[in-house]
Amino acid sequence: MTLFDFDRVHARRDSDSNKWRKFAADVLPLWVADMDFPSPPAVVAALQARVQHGFFGYLTEKPELQEVVAERVAKRYGWRVSPEAVMPLPGVIAGFNLAIRALTTPGDGLLVQTPVYPPILRAASNHGLSRDGHPLTRESDGRYTVDPDTFAAAIRPRTRAFLLCNPHNPVGRLFERRELEAMAAACLRRDLWIIADEIHCDLLYDGRRHVPMATLAPEVEARTITLIAPSKTFNVPGLKCAVAVVPNVTLRERLTAAVSDLVPKINVLGHAAAVAAYRDADDWLEALLHYLQANRDVLVREVAQLPGVRMTAPEATYLAWLDCRDSGLADPYTFFLDHARVALNDGKAFGPGGEGFVRLNFGCPRALLAEALQRMRTALDRRPSSAAAVR
Ligand SMILES: Cc1ncc(COP(=O)(O)O)c(C=O)c1O
Repeated sequence: MTLFDFDRVHARRDSDSNKWRKFAADVLPLWVADMDFPSPPAVVAALQARVQHGFFGYLTEKPELQEVVAERVAKRYGWRVSPEAVMPLPGVIAGFNLAIRALTTPGDGLLVQTPVYPPILRAASNHGLSRDGHPLTRESDGRYTVDPDTFAAAIRPRTRAFLLCNPHNPVGRLFERRELEAMAAACLRRDLWIIADEIHCDLLYDGRRHVPMATLAPEVEARTITLIAPSKTFNVPGLKCAVAVVPNVTLRERLTAAVSDLVPKINVLGHAAAVAAYRDADDWLEALLHYLQANRDVLVREVAQLPGVRMTAPEATYLAWLDCRDSGLADPYTFFLDHARVALNDGKAFGPGGEGFVRLNFGCPRALLAEALQRMRTALDRRPSSAAAVR
């Protein structure tokens, strides 16, 4: 019996939630990566205590967060880093943009694997870089894999850095060690920096274990900036708190210079939440993963009943990547929004390979997920039979 009630449906529409306020009141929002579960009690209690203190002055330059993160990566991955290697940052998106600024110059190329999370897709253009795309291989069963040959071939003379997303949003893969090794070897051969967005690293199913890219070998660690955060895992993305783990001192100095005065320090509430989450909420995380995995299994079963829609079970993340290309829908995102009143993410926003797909967030009470799937099924069943291209 779990101590945490993930089944309870909470009213969020009257809050400041972007997820719940973006669409009309009759729309079920299963889009942005934010879960419909309150944060762990340990996090809420830490925040309450911090607010009760009543002082919100500048955060000390030596926060406990660095120690907590160093302990966590040692425990989880056997990765020994000093607390100084951990740089608090106000977000992972900010982190990879800063890393790009620190390590590249306009005109360079940035390697990304498509389809991919939109801020990763557009990161190159934020800095006057060219996007060098490596399409993930879609196998006949719908699973995405990394082909080492096409990966190596995607590295061009101008390519300076690889922005990895692992676990991968939106395809839900947790890359295996041999896939990571092949990518790392190609990056080392071509002297690329590796910026590893590993924000979803705690959200794994079926007993899988995450391998941080930087732990493959000392020479990989020396070229890698790893970005992690409690935000997805413990549902605190609005608190803007993340870290870069950068054991290489020179790399860290370059990142620190890029941070400069333009980037705010993390705020005191984000800091309090992150420390409590990483230190005191692993029982909650374990229960969450159990619940999410069951949601995932319900989703796989129910999507099999949706005509023309297919998915493979995500290995990680609470995001599912639905292939609607056989449904006859010209625009599945708009169809589900208009006819099912379910808001998903449009696959087109994830770049090449996203056309005809939608992303669904199953980080919600099972009743909401069931309701959304029921609505989607009804909408598909009600289509006039001639409507091959319903909008
Ligand atoms: C792969 C990935 N990176 C980064 C983020 C956002 O990170 P942050 O809110 O810390 O900027 C997300 C959020 O969904 C994500 O999926």
